[in-house]
Amino acid sequence: MLFILLVLENSDSDIGMFGWVLVGLSLLLVLITFPLSIWMCFKIVQEYQRAIIFRLGRIVKGGDKGPGLFFIVPCTDIFVNVDMRTITFDIPPQEVLTKDSVTVCVDGVVYYRVQNATLAVANITNADAATRLLAQTTLRNVLGTKNLAEILSDREEIAHSMQATLDDATDNWGIKVERVEIKDVKLPLQLQRAMAAEAEASREARAKVIAAEGEMKASRALKEASLVISEAPSALQLRYLQTLNTIAAEKNSTIVFPLPMDMMHSLMKR
Ligand SMILES: *[C@@H]1O[C@H](CO)[C@@H](O)[C@H](O)[C@H]1NC(C)=O
Ligand SMILES: *[C@@H]1O[C@H](CO)[C@@H](O)[C@H](O)[C@H]1NC(C)=O
Ligand SMILES: *[C@@H]1O[C@H](CO)[C@@H](O)[C@H](O)[C@H]1NC(C)=O
Repeated sequence: MLFILLVLENSDSDIGMFGWVLVGLSLLLVLITFPLSIWMCFKIVQEYQRAIIFRLGRIVKGGDKGPGLFFIVPCTDIFVNVDMRTITFDIPPQEVLTKDSVTVCVDGVVYYRVQNATLAVANITNADAATRLLAQTTLRNVLGTKNLAEILSDREEIAHSMQATLDDATDNWGIKVERVEIKDVKLPLQLQRAMAAEAEASREARAKVIAAEGEMKASRALKEASLVISEAPSALQLRYLQTLNTIAAEKNSTIVFPLPMDMMHSLMKR
């Protein structure tokens, strides 16, 4: 009697009069062969699985069963297991023509899971394969509307818009796309070389400008220094001594004869 209650509880009246007769007969069979048949009636699914029961071809009301123990009527019922865990797959490398006519090779990863087991079984033959194919075409479509520079810099945003598009499309299949990541953007070899040359040239140009600016500053400082020195003649003398000091520290085997500056002065004046 417990069985009949269980059956009534989650049954659909859509199976019709004849259907009910068949279910009744099946239950009678269960009662007649009682201790053995019990093993045919109770089924188990794991924590991460759900079971969709088809009774005479109709999905039983109440949707998915599980996790754990659930009850089916032998002979009239079959059930399908659905895994609710997150599944990942690689999008194989796609050759895409960008908006500015560059061919790039892009691949990625998609994370999705079954959100509604009923829809995943009833609305689509192979939810997994369908999601894979859709991810490939979506990647191509999204990248086709972007420039190369955008693809290289806006990965995050591309991944986001892909995820939104995929999720919208897979709603009818009871699938939730949790995350999409762009793994790698491969440029053609020639373009790589050209870009490297460009980057090198611009860096060299910048280095030249910086060096020139440095020289300009240095010469200005030198000019100022010479002005200061010319204002006070003894400053030159001090500078001279300083130089001697440096030479003495570095090349202590060299003997330097200091020539008095005053003598130089008188020589130059002549
Ligand atoms: C799954 O989808 C069906 C049909 O749209 C709906 O009746 C059912 O409540 C949904 N189940 C969950 C768990 O959202
Ligand atoms: C998916 O299934 C639900 C409920 O069974 C239905 O309402 C919906 O129209 C179906 N969608 C597609 C695309 O088949
Ligand atoms: C001369 O300099 C060298 C290093 O430049 C040092 O090893 C040496 O001891 C110095 N000699 C004297 C006499 O200071």
